[in-house]
Amino acid sequence: MIKTTEERILKLKKERNAVILSHNYQRGEVQDIADFVGDSLELSQKAAKTDADVIIFCGVHFMAETASILCPDKTVLLPDAGAGCPMANMITAEQLRQKKKELPNATVVTYINSTAAVKAESDYCCTSANGVKIVKSIDNEEILFVPDQYLGDFIARRTGKKMTLWPGYCPTHVKIIPEDIIRQKNEHPGAKVVVHPECRPDVIALADEALSTSGMIRYAAREDVSEMIVGTEVEILHRLNKENPGKKFFPASKKAICPNMKLITLDKILNALETMTPEVKVPEEIRVKARAAVDQMLAIV
Ligand code: 13P
Ligand code: SF4
Repeated sequence: MIKTTEERILKLKKERNAVILSHNYQRGEVQDIADFVGDSLELSQKAAKTDADVIIFCGVHFMAETASILCPDKTVLLPDAGAGCPMANMITAEQLRQKKKELPNATVVTYINSTAAVKAESDYCCTSANGVKIVKSIDNEEILFVPDQYLGDFIARRTGKKMTLWPGYCPTHVKIIPEDIIRQKNEHPGAKVVVHPECRPDVIALADEALSTSGMIRYAAREDVSEMIVGTEVEILHRLNKENPGKKFFPASKKAICPNMKLITLDKILNALETMTPEVKVPEEIRVKARAAVDQMLAIV
């Protein structure tokens, strides 16, 4: 009998001793076949702990790099090598080295949405789930935060620290504008508004909470939440609807789509398992330095 793509993936996954990790923005069918679906922090924690030989990373390039940083002995496959994060590419290691010279006393905190080479130039990593906690824990009032100016602004407001922000941003989240939230609030007056901290400050100001993607999943499960306006990439609604039957979720803007996250498909996952490519492997010299910044984060989480 001819097997479906899903069946072939599951069979090969077993033979290769592979684990499939998926970000919350992946296509619904990719989330459904994954062993674990989560936010950047959870995915890096899962990668660090797995005893699989192969990690199929269904997300974008920096996430696969983080898995490679944490698991140098494992094969990390990104089913589409072109799935990058435009924000991560808004700063280079050389640009960061220059900025550090201008601010010699600053502690460098780098959003996990960054290249391994940039992490290697950093003191701490953080994700959207723990940025406030990480910056609070640092015994220095002067912070250089890269590359997301909006997450940086959010953290600065919550911690009161003097933060120099690199002018990077997420092209998907800036598509959500205050008018979207106002319109949705008018249409659904009883709904909670939850947005991602990559959103613009004027969008965050209109929300009840700004949370990481998995933070939103936990918030949605609360008893007092029956309707929620969701200010992040639209595919998160797949998991929100699946895990919360009877509750209603409204995307703040249907324009908030991350095209890079959509590059991963079931066919490409199958191809990755068959060919054991495309592999993401961080060179050892960069890996060791980047690992120190990631470990600083994981020690605080
Ligand atoms: P989370 O860590 O909240 O899942 O965010 C990752 C991301 O790329 C958001 O755009
Ligand atoms: Fe990068 Fe934005 Fe896509 Fe997240 S949603 S992966 S920050 S481009």
